[in-house]
Amino acid sequence: MLILGIESSCDETAAAVLEDGTRVLSNIVASQIEVHRQYGGVVPELASRHHLESIVPTVESALLEANRGKQHLDAIAVTQGPGLVGSLLVGLNYAKALSYVLGCPLIAVNHLEGHIFSVPLELARIEQDRGAQPRSDWDHLLPALALVVSGGHTSLYVVNGLWYRGKRQERYRLVGRTRDDAAGEAFDKVAKLLFLGYPGGPIIDRLFPRGDPGAVSLPATKISDRSLDFSFSGIKTAVLRQVQSAFQAESEFLRQHRNTPGFHDNLPQPVYDLLASFQSAVVETLFQTTFRAAEREFPKSILVSGGVACNRWLRERFSQGFGRVGIPVHFPSPLLSTDNAAMIAAAGYPKFLRGEFADLTLNADVNLKLA
Ligand code: KG4
Ligand code: ZN
Repeated sequence: MLILGIESSCDETAAAVLEDGTRVLSNIVASQIEVHRQYGGVVPELASRHHLESIVPTVESALLEANRGKQHLDAIAVTQGPGLVGSLLVGLNYAKALSYVLGCPLIAVNHLEGHIFSVPLELARIEQDRGAQPRSDWDHLLPALALVVSGGHTSLYVVNGLWYRGKRQERYRLVGRTRDDAAGEAFDKVAKLLFLGYPGGPIIDRLFPRGDPGAVSLPATKISDRSLDFSFSGIKTAVLRQVQSAFQAESEFLRQHRNTPGFHDNLPQPVYDLLASFQSAVVETLFQTTFRAAEREFPKSILVSGGVACNRWLRERFSQGFGRVGIPVHFPSPLLSTDNAAMIAAAGYPKFLRGEFADLTLNADVNLKLA
């Protein structure tokens, strides 16, 4: 059973072919990072224009790499939202046209559900690599706490059913979300503030071991003792205040040397310390809130997905913190953590089995909710 996944919600044009819901035959991502780098963030108008140029070759590459023709497809799964409207519409309209021409069913997928499915997809890959038959259900993980943490989202869900059972409202329950910036957005903004480049997450992640995470006090905003919501604008503003006061000389040095080769490896030590303190504060906020949610919800596992799930200190902190209380934490590999279409096809598979198909009136929904 073959599903073609198509994803274009933000700045990556992606297509993937998935066999029987778990075997990734191809997973192609055409990144626009180079386009947006000079602006220090995603420019929506440029993103949609580049999706238009990339969508056909990306789908063709996915089919070629999977060694399958369009006529072999059983369904097309596409991201309906949330995301940028101009970006979403490119993937969605292409998927609709393809579904019409091929006469095969169309499946609408929520991008956040896709991120959550990247975790079982990774677990299936590990089983396949061991030569084992991948599981057909993931009940042993459930109920799970799923943290989706990316450039656009920071949300915490209780997941009661990944597979067939229950209505969507019963499968996912939102228990916490960011009140302001997403965690990845905070990484990107802090890197921009310090002239380090875009996207900020991978850069700050790499430089983290060079700094002292306890050097600069960056208080996190706590919403209330009872809330499981996140807030990152307080930490980001605390970095801004440091840059405007104690770090004025360093900031000027960074501005002047930002285009020098080897720039990242020759920063003043206080800057490494500031970056390490920032990353540590963000990861600690993510960990502490997820931990408090676990104390309330008694999950059997923690599933962390989205671009920020690539972060090495986050992986260590979660594994170590939840390891102490015996709750397993699962992450996707980096390629499945950031935006991709294999996760969209994976989330589409149970919908295919349930016969949950969309018709050609399907429209993009920039605020599509999962729960
Ligand atoms: O999931 P994703 O590709 O796109 C969205 O749906 O937003 O996530 C991109 C975000 C960016 O903000 C990027 O800075 C962040 O994920 N990111 C990281 C790392 N790799 C990517 N953040 C922290 N550490 C990383 N290693
Ligand atoms: Zn995403």
